[in-house]
Amino acid sequence: MAIRHSNPSETSAWKKLSSHFKENSNKTIRQFFSSNPDRAKEFTITWNDFTLDYSKNRISEETRELLLQLAKEVDLQSAISDQYNGKRINETEGRAVLHTALRAKESDVIKVDGKNIVPEVYAVRKRMQQFSDSIISGTAKGYTGKAFTDVVNIGIGGSDLGPEMVVKALKYYGNHLKMHFVSNVDGDHVHETLKELDPETTLFIVVSKTFTTQETLTNATTVKKWFLKSAKQEDVAKHFAAVSTNTEKIAEFGIASENVFPMWNWVGGRFSLWSAVGLSICLAVGYAHFSGLLDGANEMDTHFKTADFDQNMPVILALLSVWYNNFYGAETEAVIPYSQYLSRFSAYLQQGVMESNGKSVDRNGDKVDYQTGTIIWGEPGTNSQHAFFQLIHQGTKLIPADFIGFKDSLYGDKDHHNKLMANFFAQTKALMRGKSAEVVQEELKNQNNGETAVKSIVPFKVFEGNKPTNTLLIDKLTPNSLGALIALYEHKIYVQGVIWNIFCYDQWGVELGKELATAVLNDINGENVADHDGSTLNLLGLYKN
Ligand code: F6P
Repeated sequence: MAIRHSNPSETSAWKKLSSHFKENSNKTIRQFFSSNPDRAKEFTITWNDFTLDYSKNRISEETRELLLQLAKEVDLQSAISDQYNGKRINETEGRAVLHTALRAKESDVIKVDGKNIVPEVYAVRKRMQQFSDSIISGTAKGYTGKAFTDVVNIGIGGSDLGPEMVVKALKYYGNHLKMHFVSNVDGDHVHETLKELDPETTLFIVVSKTFTTQETLTNATTVKKWFLKSAKQEDVAKHFAAVSTNTEKIAEFGIASENVFPMWNWVGGRFSLWSAVGLSICLAVGYAHFSGLLDGANEMDTHFKTADFDQNMPVILALLSVWYNNFYGAETEAVIPYSQYLSRFSAYLQQGVMESNGKSVDRNGDKVDYQTGTIIWGEPGTNSQHAFFQLIHQGTKLIPADFIGFKDSLYGDKDHHNKLMANFFAQTKALMRGKSAEVVQEELKNQNNGETAVKSIVPFKVFEGNKPTNTLLIDKLTPNSLGALIALYEHKIYVQGVIWNIFCYDQWGVELGKELATAVLNDINGENVADHDGSTLNLLGLYKN
């Protein structure tokens, strides 16, 4: 069966959820806990080394039932099968969506247009292994015979965010190679990076699915010019590699064919870190760890495909998000990893979630009459506690938050880790429980404050509580668990897209800005005068003069 193209708000589950919301939205999470002593257990899913406790949410058993009914009514199961089976579910671009094939087992058979794509995937993986082994071991040498010390990934969006996030996250598993990421067309980014580098010992990887992206081509050209100041044209072959679907354009750029790694149209940019786009990851941590990352994702793929929806982590996370987005009117979601290694995780998810589900037209081409994509943001704890937590605790907005933590730290410093995790657990507890006026009053009195002082200060110290959180507790940050974590969020995105009846795998919304930037650049370069509004005209005038 093909993916449904129907309005979710017309399903009977949605209608029931609407009235259920009206009748029950005044109930608090605390009340749910008091009425069910087994709540924590009943609202927890364990899978491999992951525990997802979603008991601190504004949902009852009935809410969960209705949300699960919604998933059934939109035919989520067949939508999942369609994706895994290579159906062209990215209909506006006529493409299959198979990032899951990149981490499939070698014995799997996944067909696109009748052809099994798994052997090709493994052939590229083999080449990535050989290439990264030779660079890491030092057998591959630069143009003056020295081994490589630095690697620069040149790419943007999906060709940057995923690799950079993972390289940071797996730093502990890294080797001697120093990794750098150049993405912004802001020349100061590339020049600041080059300042530290020696052309004799630096490898550049140009990553662009299309090989037409202005930022990446500009940066790659600048880097090549810089390189050619000390090296010769024939040395480019030793120092530049490329990853793209567009082999013609790579050849024009002058990168040797043995250093060109293909990718495929059935992989979306923001889901591509598992392909050769992840070459920088492979170089940073070695092929065995890169493989571990892919295996972890594959395990999560199996979980997503086979677990019953009530035990299915991506499905449950997606349904909760729909609940807050579409019934509570929550606009944003925070993702707070309690690990400094995951400092780029929210930035990475922003592209995944917002480029995928930031759509206002449904699969029939009609404007939707309900909310879609959530706004994702976040920073690691405990730093974020000292930055924006005030607003989550006492502000006017409802911000559901995912807390991600690990039982073990990597360096095994118990003192630090216990403190980190004490904060991790305390925050979700505080967000749920809050602190009542009575308690605040009592505390203030016990601190010997006079009655007037107590009265005037109480309102400021009250915490309403009832703030929803999910807690994801994982044994340890390893390539395997990171792979599974990323895949978990990837699948959450798709489940939401299916429910909202939108196409999550295209991104037409990024095109207009690119088009206009080209026209404005022509104007800046004096080539023609584009048709500007008054404000743009004034601003350009100021810039040009
Ligand atoms: O910003 C739009 C986008 O197309 C992203 O989807 C993509 O990840 C990024 O640009 C980079 O594209 P490419 O890999 O083709 O350079």
